Amino acid sequence: MDKKFKRTLVTCALPYANGPVHIGHLAGVYVPADIYVRYLRMKGEDVLFICGSDEHGVPITIKARKEGVTPQDIVDRYHNIIKNSFTGLGINFDIYSRTSSKVHEKNASEFFRKLYDDEKFITKETEQFFDPEAKTFLADRYITGTCPKCGNPNAYGDQCEKCGSTLSPEELIDPKSALSGSAPVKVKTKHWYLPLDQYEPWLRDWILEQHKEWKSNVYGQCKSWLDGGLQPRAVSRDLDWGVPVPVDGAEGKVLYVWFDAPIGYISNTQELLPQSWKKWWKADESRLVHFIGKDNIVFHCIVFPSMLKAYGDGYILPDNVPSNEFLNLEGDKISTSRNWAVWLNEYLEEFPGQEDVLRYVLCANAPETKDNDFTWKDFQQRNNSELVAIFGNFVNRAIVLTQKYFGGAVPANLKPEAMDREALAEIVPCKEALEKYIETFHFREALKEAMNIARIGNKYISDAEPWKVAKTDMDRTASILYTSLQICADLAIAFEPFLPFSAEKLRNILNINVAAGFDHRAGEGAPTVNFFRDGEARALHTLSSEASLTSEGKVDEKVTLSSTMPSDCTDPTLTWAELGSSELLAPGHKLGENGLLFAKIEDEVVEKQIAKLEAAKAANAAAAAEKAAREAAAHIEPQKPEVEFDDFGRMDIRTATVLAAERVPKTDKLLKLTIDTGIDTRTIVSGIAEYYSPEDMLGKQICILANLKPRTIRGIESKGMILMAKQGDGKMRFITPQEALVNGAQIG
Ligand code: MF3
Ligand code: ZN
Repeated sequence: MDKKFKRTLVTCALPYANGPVHIGHLAGVYVPADIYVRYLRMKGEDVLFICGSDEHGVPITIKARKEGVTPQDIVDRYHNIIKNSFTGLGINFDIYSRTSSKVHEKNASEFFRKLYDDEKFITKETEQFFDPEAKTFLADRYITGTCPKCGNPNAYGDQCEKCGSTLSPEELIDPKSALSGSAPVKVKTKHWYLPLDQYEPWLRDWILEQHKEWKSNVYGQCKSWLDGGLQPRAVSRDLDWGVPVPVDGAEGKVLYVWFDAPIGYISNTQELLPQSWKKWWKADESRLVHFIGKDNIVFHCIVFPSMLKAYGDGYILPDNVPSNEFLNLEGDKISTSRNWAVWLNEYLEEFPGQEDVLRYVLCANAPETKDNDFTWKDFQQRNNSELVAIFGNFVNRAIVLTQKYFGGAVPANLKPEAMDREALAEIVPCKEALEKYIETFHFREALKEAMNIARIGNKYISDAEPWKVAKTDMDRTASILYTSLQICADLAIAFEPFLPFSAEKLRNILNINVAAGFDHRAGEGAPTVNFFRDGEARALHTLSSEASLTSEGKVDEKVTLSSTMPSDCTDPTLTWAELGSSELLAPGHKLGENGLLFAKIEDEVVEKQIAKLEAAKAANAAAAAEKAAREAAAHIEPQKPEVEFDDFGRMDIRTATVLAAERVPKTDKLLKLTIDTGIDTRTIVSGIAEYYSPEDMLGKQICILANLKPRTIRGIESKGMILMAKQGDGKMRFITPQEALVNGAQIG
């Protein structure tokens, strides 16, 4: 880390509390952020890790409407699901709060108010779509209509999901309110705008000149926004769910969700650290890093920094904004509404004890430079042929042989050879590359380097063949296992950021601690120091004395790490700095109990997951077909041109009853019906066989046009026509009187 910084504030995009978190979110934002934070902490840096639920905005209200519950019900449900699932995957934020909290409402409101008082906003009156029946303004998402580009009848006011075009509600053909179905009308409304155009020169310099190191996808998106010219952006909305706009004359208006949500990062810090939050947000020696998805880039690189700049008062700006591309699933775009996703909460239930497999696959396959695909086959393959076959296999061989030949204690290095030194020496460049990659946010490459250490170990033990050497040379066997165990200890350090659950297992197998730095989960209380070891019992040792805090509240890592070691803990505690050192485990050190780090994943397991996705696909197709049929049915033909009364009067329409019905041979569509018209018994040939069988028609009372000129159809004389109703689904249905009448009753 740059010397000018003393601490790092890491935020993750606040997920919308309108559904659980899925693998796309994890791969893009949360897994990389967690790796980064764990790594910095292991290096002894002071890091604050902030997240929470984004509980405002239209996505929440839409979900609530769909389920017929209140927005509050929705956010309460998903906030908890999301929060617990992050913990389940080992992602431990210092605080995971929510934007519906009191602290946030007050904070966001005050933030707006200060910008308002300082005249940082402009106001504009515009015409917005309004639903006259529901008496409410309509967010773009609440307006549906026909896409002008592809004709999809279900396009939204902001986007057509069929052809992917970005739309505005004005462009929709036949716009309708999703609330009431009525045609929206334009009504004038006033809103507050942040004049981003005024910040453009400053943003150009700050991003394009001073942050050339940002990842190229982020930098590129910023550049194209800036080159396109910035426009004032509305920061309020006509909605009833959100933080009320705190000025007079703003009834029924709330802060735009993208105005309030990023302030949530600050609110959540305040909630955790009511006394000392400013040192994270308003000190130049603090470094701010936002982990986000690519659809959030403009908000975090352009809008939020402009808000902070406008606010002034010493707020720091992000030093980096790492963002990934999108992860697809089995070749298709992940979609919450289509249920095309792997949901974290479901994964944790279905794969207990295999949290790290998901972390591994999402990182190994992270969409860092381009969109990438998650497939269950790849998931299985990476687990079985990388985690199990390389990492797990190496550790298991080293431990089992040490137990077999040396009673489970690290043997002395009695007969070293060049190959031992060479293997250990290879780890040093892996460590250096790993550090470089993590520090530049290339987590996939970093993980490859960690995995290389396992490959080095696996190759070393395969080449050295201690199981053969043991037959003739126990001294040499001792050196081989001594060396192998050193590599195991390296793995326990190197994998801690990536695979914390497996690293913990490995620490227990090796009977060691690894210093993991400290976190701020205790809030304003003393920071919590982690000697990562074996879960709750040994893992957390709270700093007991304030003496180890410097005057500004900063913890002196060296003091903490050594002075707070519990006295009963005599096992070695390794630090990140020691990764790649020559002797991590001294001869004589007693290992713990062996256990398997990774388990093979069988075909049935992934086949079950694939079947689950296929079921989702089938359900979607069925729902789409049903929706299309419903909509087609609702389609009403326009009225025909007017006729004179006499035109109608010439039609002789009567009730009649079907006496006999049979199919017309060699046709699919025709029925031959014998009917009692009250006037006579006659034959009508009717094209209804597609919709009704002869049995369906037998004995039914129907309506006929009796005086239609007879026609011969397939050699049968047909006298008259059956009246049928037709709606958009194309199906014909006969008309029947609502109570039985005599045959021959006149209709008109
Ligand atoms: N909820 C947004 C999303 O899921 C992210 C909000 S990030 C914040 O896309 F900056 F607004 F907090
Ligand atoms: Zn379209």
